[in-house]
Amino acid sequence: MRALCCILAVAFAVTLVAASTADNSAAVMRKLPENLKLGAATASFQVEGAWDAADKSESIWDTFCRIPGNIKDGTDGNDTCKSYEFYQRDIEMLKFLGVDFYRFSVSWPRVLPNGFANKISEDGIGYYSRLVDELLANGIEPVVTIYHWDLPQNLQDLGGWANPLIADWFEDYARVLFDALGDRVKTWVTLNEPKQFAVFGYGMAFCAPNIVSAGIGDYMAIKNLMVAHARVWHLYDKEYRPTQKGTIGIVIATDYREGASDSPEDIEAGKIAFDFEVGLYSHPIFSTTGGFPESVVKRIAERSAQQGFPRSRLPEFTPEEIEYIKGTSDFFGFNHYSTLFYAADSYKPGIFDIPSYNDDLGAVGTYGSYATTSVPHTTKIPGGIRKALNWVKDSYNNPEIMIFENGFGNLGGNNDIDRIDYYLAYLDAVLDAIEVDGCNITRYTAWSLMDNFEWNSGLSVKFGLFEVDYNDDKRTRTARASALWFKDLIATRTLDPDYEPRLEEIKF
Ligand SMILES: *[C@@H]1O[C@H](CO)[C@@H](O)[C@H](O)[C@H]1NC(C)=O
Ligand SMILES: *[C@@H]1O[C@H](CO)[C@@H](O)[C@H](O)[C@H]1NC(C)=O
Repeated sequence: MRALCCILAVAFAVTLVAASTADNSAAVMRKLPENLKLGAATASFQVEGAWDAADKSESIWDTFCRIPGNIKDGTDGNDTCKSYEFYQRDIEMLKFLGVDFYRFSVSWPRVLPNGFANKISEDGIGYYSRLVDELLANGIEPVVTIYHWDLPQNLQDLGGWANPLIADWFEDYARVLFDALGDRVKTWVTLNEPKQFAVFGYGMAFCAPNIVSAGIGDYMAIKNLMVAHARVWHLYDKEYRPTQKGTIGIVIATDYREGASDSPEDIEAGKIAFDFEVGLYSHPIFSTTGGFPESVVKRIAERSAQQGFPRSRLPEFTPEEIEYIKGTSDFFGFNHYSTLFYAADSYKPGIFDIPSYNDDLGAVGTYGSYATTSVPHTTKIPGGIRKALNWVKDSYNNPEIMIFENGFGNLGGNNDIDRIDYYLAYLDAVLDAIEVDGCNITRYTAWSLMDNFEWNSGLSVKFGLFEVDYNDDKRTRTARASALWFKDLIATRTLDPDYEPRLEEIKF
């Protein structure tokens, strides 16, 4: 096994040199900045399993998985990686890698089986409390996401994120977590990827809760989640920060969008697409003016009027809400996978439902001339992450940026030189953003620690540094070449473009 690995390594190295030459970057070793912390991430529904352990109730993803046809490979989240049962093994894997921190999320229906804060599950909160304790005992900092898509189903039955009362419910839930874990957890994320759970969940038919209210329900959810996020930030800032002294912010999927050519029309199409994709969530919090981006407000108002709606389908903020939401994130939480290119003339009436988010955006994104792979939304375009980081820096006065997800999806295999190749190129671009451009990036997080339940793609799409054997009752994990690469990166704190991938038989 070992000998074979060495032979393969030679072949890998040749591939990687070729790749970096093609990118026209000199093959120089780069030291990581001292203040850049490295970590790995997961999310509760994607790894925990134990969907009905103790008094846990069902989340919208439990419900969604039960309906045949919803998940591409017919799998569900019942057991996934069994991290609820085997979390100590996850900590051993994190220790093996040598990470500074572990980003995980809390399952709302596990902690509050009624959705409401009138009953706290002892088993549920006990699980997270032990996880936090044991991470700290092993020198790993816990970074906790309060909401990563698994809303209690009973709150969805009342409208979920489309109901403005969600701000109360979310604040109550967050308070329970600050009370129970805030003495030990010092970095909090309120919401993960608002676009994905609002637009995919309330406007398009492919993700939980599968409310297909295109161009209406999605925008209602967006307004409500912005207010809910701000409520939790203010709660922490006023009542908990003085004693707990932590930091709290939002995480936005900041995939890049740009024009398909240098024509002014295409450049404008790219800018509007980025305002829809990212600005809709970042502008209310990080801009000095506050509120939704002007381009998006104008576009949706115009289209709504043409379509006979008496008011814009994008609910307005009151002036008080605009002020209340401004400044409510201690850092810019940044997830990134790829880039889409937009041509202004790509829009043809009728290609999208009317009304809908995509119709409002008004152009079709493509990966241009870049070669897509089995998971197109991780198409390798490393220049895009640098541009997206610079957009954040230039638009919002150089805020602290925490990269909380970056990674590569494929269909499996442990000699994952494609994943290492992606990571090397993206980290190189991140270092350019720090060293050349002056972006203030303090964390970099690999998505994901291990293979897990990739939403509507189910278990067949793989993002793990570790492979998970779903046929094995213990869900044994095996280190991929990328896990060893990440371990080496952390140990040397040096990015080596000529890194020679290696494989060893390492199982947890
Ligand atoms: C998951 O649990 C549900 C509810 O009990 C059940 O209907 C379904 O068959 C389970 N899935 C698997 C793969 O066992
Ligand atoms: C980066 O952000 C941190 C946290 O806000 C701050 O302490 C630090 O001074 C910033 N660094 C730079 C170079 O702006």
